This record gives sequence, structure tokens and C-alpha cells, in this order.
Amino acid sequence: MSDQNPTGPLTTESGAPVADNQNSQSAGAGGPVLIQDQLLIEKLAHFNRERIPERIVHARGAAAYGTFRVTADVTPYTRAKFLSEIGKETEVFLRFSTVAGNLGSADAVRDPRGFALKFYTEEGNYDLVGNNTPVFFIKDAIKFPDFIHTQKRDPYTGSQEADNVWDFWGLSPESTHQVTWLFGDRGIPATYRHMNGYGSHTFQWTNEAGEAFWVKYHFKTDQGIKNLTAAEAAELAGKDPDSHQRDLREAIERGEYPSWTVQVQIMPVAEAATYRFNPFDLTKVWPHADYPPIEIGKLELNRNPENIFAEVEQSIFSPHHFVPGIGPSPDKMLQGRLFAYGDAHRYRVGINADHLPVNRPHATEARTYGRDGYAYDGRHGRAKNYEPNSFGGPAQTNRPLWEPIAVTGYTGDHEAPSHAEDNDFVQAGNLYRLLSDEERDRLIDNLAGSLAQVSREDIVDRAIENFRKADEDYGKRLQAAVQALRG
Ligand code: NDP
Ligand code: HEM
Repeated sequence: MSDQNPTGPLTTESGAPVADNQNSQSAGAGGPVLIQDQLLIEKLAHFNRERIPERIVHARGAAAYGTFRVTADVTPYTRAKFLSEIGKETEVFLRFSTVAGNLGSADAVRDPRGFALKFYTEEGNYDLVGNNTPVFFIKDAIKFPDFIHTQKRDPYTGSQEADNVWDFWGLSPESTHQVTWLFGDRGIPATYRHMNGYGSHTFQWTNEAGEAFWVKYHFKTDQGIKNLTAAEAAELAGKDPDSHQRDLREAIERGEYPSWTVQVQIMPVAEAATYRFNPFDLTKVWPHADYPPIEIGKLELNRNPENIFAEVEQSIFSPHHFVPGIGPSPDKMLQGRLFAYGDAHRYRVGINADHLPVNRPHATEARTYGRDGYAYDGRHGRAKNYEPNSFGGPAQTNRPLWEPIAVTGYTGDHEAPSHAEDNDFVQAGNLYRLLSDEERDRLIDNLAGSLAQVSREDIVDRAIENFRKADEDYGKRLQAAVQALRG
């Protein structure tokens, strides 16, 4: 893409030279403007259509291109070609984001950060649409719209309301783990470079022999973890709303390329049924002691996008974009996400979103019989638009990308199975107990500051009870801190 201004005279969109770009045509010098002024009409009409719907979540973000390099032999676990050799490199595009804020909101806020990574592999694009936390607030996609409504603007006040946020969390005790994370130090990363990324869900890897494994991804920042306190963030958000976006762009311009060490946890499929936690529950981690992280690669970001609208706003990432050797797990959140993203893209960017330069495969080509629609570029030319055909057109491979997932039981509105040590609080308690005294002090202050804004005692009490169930000391200290603030 060119970073130069084009040479030659100014033209209309259809290429005709423009005589005057300062004055509209009018009937006499002081008269009304004329409909024959093609340039005026074209400019005003184009301007009216410059915005597309912002993402319903993760609207605010920044992105960069880079490289993923394999550093370990993972062929025993997956046949994905981009992971097939030590030293192999694949181009990537990584978009960071906040979740709740609108497109123009500030970067330095307490919110999870999106970590959406596109690998342009020779077998198609593989998207890993994760966050900077290994867990999430809920474990079933059916709760996602309600959850996000509480994070976004209230229909009456037009602002995010502590009442709504804490009402939902208190009534959804499975959120206790992620809420503990969010109000801890890592809830406000200093920059996008100084935080980890996680695939969060459990995914399936399958090797050449057709053996399947469950896998979780971790991206550990090589810059070190750096966070902002609530006070530092409030000041920065006011002074420099674009702080994270600017930091990423400027670091890359300076040649200080941020990098992450990529690790995976691997669970043989046979161990899943009897594991002490439900391995497909997105509110839980797999403790490292059970499944130690294994280093498999390095991720580096080294090129800024040239045009934010074309490459960042119109970029699309979908948890459904898998490649051979990688697939979904039965995680109920992930299953819901497999639908939600493609649907959002068709609404937000259009049916030909996959054809845009940032979204299309870079290391192979897409060969489909999908045709036409708004802004179709005619890429298929005269090629046959149906399959099967007798003209040598692309045909199916007969090899599924991933292995079948075993199922039992009847259809119904089921809760996810509970394993031996599963409850909504144990891992929130584990996180609380691993924090230092100072980290716990800040966690309690941050939570109390937010809870103190809630207008109803029953909502506050229910929320505190969840933290008490995670750890008696946690609940006791929080209750005292909230009482001190509410008087
Ligand atoms: P470990 O002691 O083996 O791992 C602890 C993990 O906690 C490390 O990954 C560490 O990340 C991370 N951590 C350290 N400080 C914080 C913090 N202030 N906020 C968030 N994470 C932090 O313990 P377990 O694997 O048994 O997990 C215990 C708890 O640690 C979990 O309940 C979970 O909340 C949290 N955790 C677990 C992860 C996992 O995949 N098992 C991943 C991240 C967090 P780092 O090395 O970057 O400092
Ligand atoms: C963006 C839905 C859970 C990470 C989005 C978008 C939708 C969506 C509709 C906007 C997509 C677009 O317009 O391009 C959902 C649903 C969820 C869910 C229905 C639960 C069932 C999660 C979870 C994570 C996550 C658990 C992380 C682990 C992201 C990220 C983006 C995003 C990173 C931004 C992608 C980008 O940069 O373009 N989500 N989401 N989401 N979501 Fe989710």
C-alpha cells in the first residue's frame, strides 16, 4: 500500500479532472447551488457513508502485523502446517482492544483487553480470538447479550451503571474468578505490549495419525507485565485517551518490536472426563501443576497498518476460522462464538468482508463457489459458479479439519457437567491467595470503590457473599472496606 500522495490532477471518483474543489457551482455568484455539480454531490454523499457500525463489543482497538516463529516440535499433537517445523515463520495480524467502550473511548480503563490474532497460514487463515485473561465472566453463550448489556450504557441514564454491573455479577457467581482478576493489578495494563494474551478456551489439536488432544494457548509478554493503578489510569485516560494505541505504533516505529513467548498446555483427550475441573469451563484455568505450559513459539509485531479504517476497522476475526489439525472443543461459550462472529462480520463489514486485503488469506488463496453480493470484485472471473462440475473446479478433500467430539445423553437445556472439584469460587480463591499483601490491598480498594457506588444493599451483599465463598478473609475485608466507604 502506498504512503505517497498520488501525482497528477485531482479527479472525481470516476476519474474526471476537477476544476474547482473550493467553490460549489451555483446559479450566479450569490444564487442557489446546482444539482449538476457532480463533485459536490459525490463528496457530501461519500462523507455521509464513511462510518460502518462499530463492533458491538471490542470497538476500541489497535493492531499491527508481525511474525510467528515455531520453536518446538509439536507434530506429535497437531498436523497444522504452520506449526510443522522448528524455525518456520508465519505472517500474523494482531488486534488489541478494550471491551465495553465505544470506538472513541479511552484506552487506559479497567476492562479486559482483547487479543485477536490472525495467522496467515498456507492452509488458510487461523484466528485465535482471545483476551488478556485466561478465563471469562460466564460459561454459556446464552448469557453473553445480558452480560454485555450490563457493561454498556443503561437505557435510561446512557452511562455504565454500577447497579447493573454488580447485579449481574452477584447473580452470576461463576463470574467471581474473572472479577477478581479484573479488579486486581492486571485489570489495567500499562500498554498493550506489557500484558499476556490467552486463547482462553480449550481447543482441539489433532495429529497426522488422527489422535486428538485438548489444548490451551498462553502468550507471555517478553516486555514484562506492567500495570497502571486506578489513579494513574484515571489521569492518563483524561490526558491521552489514545495512550495504548500510540504506544504500540510508536514502539514499532522506533524498531522496538514487542514480542510474546507462546506456550501451550496439552491434555490427552482421555483425561478430560475424569479431570478434577471441567476442562471446557471458560471460568476455570487448568492449574499449571496439572498441565505445565510448554513453549512452542515466538510472536513478534513489527509493522504498523497503513490505513486504520481499511486494516483495523474492517478487519474480521472469527473463532470459527480453523485450519487442518485445529478445531473447537465442546466449551459452550466457544460453541456460541462459532456462530456470533461471522454473523457480526456480515452485518458490520458485509458479505465480501473476507475478500479485503487484511482479511483474505496471504499464504494461499480462497477457492469457493460463493459469488456476488455488495462490493464483489469479480475475482472469480468466468470460472464455474457451482459444484460439483466437470470443468476441473475446486473440490472437497474428504478429510475433516478436526476429529469428531464424543457426545452422550439427550438434547436439552443442560448445565455444563460439574467435575469433582468444580464450584464457582475455588479458583477465584486460589487467585486471591496467590496475591501479595500489597496486591490484595489494592484489589480490595478497587472492588470497594466500585461496589460503594451501588444504590441497593441487597446487590452489594450478594456480591460480597460470592467473594466470601472464594476466601473468608477476602469477603471479610471487602465488607469492611465497603462499609467504611458507605458510612
Ligand atoms: P501457578 O502458581 O502455577 O500460576 C499462577 C499464574 O498466575 C501464573 O500464570 C501467573 O502469571 C499468574 N499471576 C500472577 N499474579 C497474577 C495476578 N496478579 N493476576 C493474575 N494472574 C496472576 O498457579 P495455578 O496454575 O494453580 O493458578 C492459580 C491461579 O492463578 C488461577 O486460579 C488463576 O486465577 C491464576 N492464573 C492461572 C493460569 C493458568 O493457566 N493456570 C494463568 C494465569 C493466571 P505470570 O507467570 O504471567 O506472572
Ligand atoms: C469481538 C461476540 C465472548 C474476545 C466480538 C464481536 C462479537 C462478539 C459479536 C464483534 C465482532 C466484530 O464485529 O468483528 C461474542 C460472544 C461471546 C464472546 C457472543 C460469548 C459467547 C468472547 C470471549 C473472548 C472474546 C470469551 C475472549 C476469550 C473477543 C475479541 C473481540 C471480540 C478479542 C474483538 C475482535 C477484533 O479485534 O476484531 N465478540 N464474544 N469474546 N470478542 Fe467476543
